[in-house]
Amino acid sequence: MPDLQQIIDRSRRIVCFTGAGVSTASGIPDFRGADGLYAGKWKGLTPEMILSQSFFFLHPEAFFEFYREKLLFPKAKPNAAHLAMERLERAGKLRGVVTQNVDGLHKRAGNKLVYEIHGSVWENYCMDCNAFYGLEKILNSPGIPRCDRCGGVVKPWVVLYGEAPDKYSCMGACREISNCDTLIVAGTSLSVEPAASFLDYFHGKHLVVVNAEPTPADDKAELVLRGNAAEVFESLEIRV
Ligand code: APR
Ligand code: ZN
Repeated sequence: MPDLQQIIDRSRRIVCFTGAGVSTASGIPDFRGADGLYAGKWKGLTPEMILSQSFFFLHPEAFFEFYREKLLFPKAKPNAAHLAMERLERAGKLRGVVTQNVDGLHKRAGNKLVYEIHGSVWENYCMDCNAFYGLEKILNSPGIPRCDRCGGVVKPWVVLYGEAPDKYSCMGACREISNCDTLIVAGTSLSVEPAASFLDYFHGKHLVVVNAEPTPADDKAELVLRGNAAEVFESLEIRV
């Protein structure tokens, strides 16, 4: 069986499918790991309930308090896993990163071909006039962030429970997964749909899973690396 280095050397059209586990090395907790965001409650509420569309509309003040406290890491930096994927893109081997993460770290690492299927904390829009705002608007506004232009509520472009993921990112993600020769699934429990089902579009040669814990894709994978994604990717030789 080839190792990851051999698979990467032989591949020409790689897609990386990532989850929160590739950002833990940057200091951002995952969701379902032992110390993940979903491991505890917040003011007696479950994070999954707070991160829902209905909670956002019914309790916007509490939503933004939780969101600022638990989902924003503006100082987090890309780690070795992100940087390796950027080198793969510069080497012309990467067709895209499909990410469930909203931390923006793949783009901050320099990747251009990124499909943020759950959105990004770096993009925020007025719900009334659709004006765009950066992350500083959310960070610097007390309580519910309001549009400077029309006073409407500024909502993060982050897919909440009960909302559909971004259609165009999903279409692009499925297109690239269906055309790639190698799919590297890294740092995800594959717990959430439709993201987890994107793997059904893969018909290529090498399916690789890099994850600290077992995943539903393990038995279909050619190679399963049980470990820290940052260390696994850091060890790769990627000739740009
Ligand atoms: N290296 C490798 N794997 C890791 C690391 C690491 N350094 N740290 C954590 N992991 C693994 C965990 O063991 C877990 O299996 O990454 C996986 C992360 O799984 P989740 O916490 O469920 O995160 P994710 O799969 O991205 O969640 C998907 O769920 O709540 C929604 O919108 C949210 O995008 C998120 C989606
Ligand atoms: Zn507005």
